[in-house]
Amino acid sequence: MQKIIITGGERLKGRVRISGSKNAALPIMAATLLTNGVTTLSNIPRLKDVTTMARVLRTLGAKVEFKEGRLKIDTTNVDRFLAPYNLVKTMRASFLVFGPLLAKLGRARVSLPGGCAIGSRPVDLHLRGFEELGAEVSMGGGYTQVTPVRSKTPEASASLVARTSNGVKRDGLLGAEIYLDFPSVGATENLMMAATLAKGKTTIENAAKEPEIVDLANFLNKMGAKIKGAGRDTIRIEGVKELKGTDYSIIPDRIEAGTYIIASAITRGDIILEGAKINHLESLVTKLHEAGIEIEDENGAIKVKAGRIKAVNVKTMPYPGFPTDMQAQFMALMSITPGISIITETIFENRFMHVSELLRMGADIKIEGSSAVVKGVKSLSEAPVMATDLRASAALILAGLIAKGKTEISRIYHLDRGYERIVEKLSNLGAKIERIKQ
Ligand code: UD1
Repeated sequence: MQKIIITGGERLKGRVRISGSKNAALPIMAATLLTNGVTTLSNIPRLKDVTTMARVLRTLGAKVEFKEGRLKIDTTNVDRFLAPYNLVKTMRASFLVFGPLLAKLGRARVSLPGGCAIGSRPVDLHLRGFEELGAEVSMGGGYTQVTPVRSKTPEASASLVARTSNGVKRDGLLGAEIYLDFPSVGATENLMMAATLAKGKTTIENAAKEPEIVDLANFLNKMGAKIKGAGRDTIRIEGVKELKGTDYSIIPDRIEAGTYIIASAITRGDIILEGAKINHLESLVTKLHEAGIEIEDENGAIKVKAGRIKAVNVKTMPYPGFPTDMQAQFMALMSITPGISIITETIFENRFMHVSELLRMGADIKIEGSSAVVKGVKSLSEAPVMATDLRASAALILAGLIAKGKTEISRIYHLDRGYERIVEKLSNLGAKIERIKQ
């Protein structure tokens, strides 16, 4: 077991390069299953979740290798359709292989992801959408599966998988009009991928609009898909017969960028972020401006300067609203900001696990239903704390950066899922931070 030890009180200064987006990389890796060829992805972050998705793809028959900072995925021989429990339970995003497998092989058997620290997180919207596309979804033994797809038209063959000289050709999914009760990111991605190879036109209404959805659509279109409207409420997909391998560069990670912006603000530092896209961070930037933090974009470099900060309220919402993935980090900032901030979580039911840890460092926070009432204190102080999920871990690091004394964070494997070389990047900015083995 490893721990991170931070000695708080250093003002962070300097430049930090933002890595490729984890949440864009994972669905794009899954989408390579839609082809029978070779895809090369650049700006892929070296993270545990990326390694896990690579393992899932290998289990299905793909060849995956990291070479000179790029990820090469060869899906020519993908013929298996089972994503097992031992992999899916470690990363929910593994469920994103369902849509591509269904579209390409006509069948899929993927373990149900189960709950996680931040809530129950069902996949009902994904499954209802697959049914709209004509799949017969069934459950059993902890798995969700689709075996042959029902025939909606006389010409749709009952046998789905017909081997042809150029690979596996499916015959079953049919374009449909899908309405999502909630703009789920994962459901939008899974359904968009499945629909690329369905016969005819699909519309996804009330779709998620996150930049990662747009990145996935751009990637799919580069492979030959016909998708319009990604980033808006309604996505229109015209099914094509096949997709081809391609080269693609992943967008920068807006949540990593947001975390470094807050690292600068919380230490009253002076950080410049390289390679981030400020237009993916509008709601966060607006809220930080309101709190008194200056953020400027100078030729693609984001400059952060914090003077006197005041408390502001935030409410997490689907994009372009305030991201739930920045809620914990924002709370760390508000915990030492004069005034009272009300932070409301509307996306996940149980995403305040970091509160009890921040309390151990001297924060004054009360949870009232889905809101946290944060009363800014003068300072935080050292304590042994435990990371409970990815973004909660980031919040504890941020709190440790300004806490008096040495903060010791355990269970840091969560961090390695989503922050590339965080200890090195923060050290380069002047933080006193180290990773130790227990
Ligand atoms: C993605 C992100 C995650 C982020 C989240 C919300 C990835 C790999 N992960 O997760 O970092 O926090 O978006 O921005 O991109 N829901 C249902 N039924 C479903 C699907 C979702 O009820 O079928 C609910 C979930 O329980 C949750 C809410 O919808 O309460 C949002 O989930 P969703 O947008 O699907 O998040 P993920 O794709 O899992």
